[in-house]
Amino acid sequence: MLKEIYEAPQTIRLASLGRVNAATRTIKLGGLEGVEEQLRHIDRIVIVACGTASYAGMIGECLIEELAGIPVEVQIGSEFKYRNEPFSRGTALIVVSQSGETADTIAALKKAEKYGVLQLGVVNAVGSTIARMTDAGVYCHAGPEQAVASTKAFIAQVVVLLEIALFLGRDRSPLFNTLLQEIEALPDKAQAVLAQAETIKKIAIKYKGYKDFLYIGRRYAYPTALEGALKLKECALIHAEGFAAGEMKHGPLALIDEDFPTFALAGDGPMLEKTYSNMQEIRTRQGKIIAVATKGNKLVHQHADDVIYIPKTLEQTEPILQAIVMQLFAYYVAVEKGLNVDRPRNLAKSVTVE
Ligand code: AGP
Repeated sequence: MLKEIYEAPQTIRLASLGRVNAATRTIKLGGLEGVEEQLRHIDRIVIVACGTASYAGMIGECLIEELAGIPVEVQIGSEFKYRNEPFSRGTALIVVSQSGETADTIAALKKAEKYGVLQLGVVNAVGSTIARMTDAGVYCHAGPEQAVASTKAFIAQVVVLLEIALFLGRDRSPLFNTLLQEIEALPDKAQAVLAQAETIKKIAIKYKGYKDFLYIGRRYAYPTALEGALKLKECALIHAEGFAAGEMKHGPLALIDEDFPTFALAGDGPMLEKTYSNMQEIRTRQGKIIAVATKGNKLVHQHADDVIYIPKTLEQTEPILQAIVMQLFAYYVAVEKGLNVDRPRNLAKSVTVE
């Protein structure tokens, strides 16, 4: 797992190699060129995936809606199969999967086949069942992922979904060029996050004894918080829940006391002030807070017990850097607890049964 976390800079490079060119202001996705005409007539996208891939899908939902203006909904594979929702011809299905062999996601493809909708794949494992079943798609090129807890594949999935959003929205998004430049700058920023490993390890040692954890975030940081909670659950065997920060006062706040710490994703951006107020709600209930904030933020200390800084980036690309922090945190807590981080109990790398 640690080796795969440290591959993040290279993973971002490989997921954008030959695709993103900020100098020529172009995005090229060879795997979608064959269906470009059909894509022009898409008026709805359904993303189906499981586990970590579904959280990448939720970030993809925000990206495609914001950058391409196409309505998106995300469904987890195990539910999608048994729902009876209408499919219009203008709907496209995007399935996201590291292994390309997940039974619940394959079942989703089989179900959608009946409706004749365009089926696209965001897959890491080359030549896998899902890659062969879909009409077109984009490989993640993260290389084989062996640890059960998905880390580099999540990073690659978010980069690829960002590329798909830019590909679909290239004629309309004012952020197009800025995001192309940011994708090219991300590997160095990911390296800078990895350089924080010792700080993250110290904080992990400080919090390893807690039995419950909350992860909160807003907009792009909400699904990222869900992913952080999943990593702590599956690696460190700690009960952890991800929540939209604005949801706290609608229930989860009742859980908060000095024994229930919170990981708050508080990057610079339009949601920072709102996130501060959610952090204050927690602090006034003696809840401890670990904040992931943007380098240069001088105020966040007033709202947190511990702060991990990441380089400044855009809200749309922040999940990639925040994920590395949460992967390292879960890894170090698990190691401190003497757990088998690569083979967590009760879990398989690819879930090939329903
Ligand atoms: C993530 O760390 C887990 N291994 C699990 O949630 C995984 O993401 C899920 O089973 C989906 O797998 P896939 O991406 O191979 O389809």
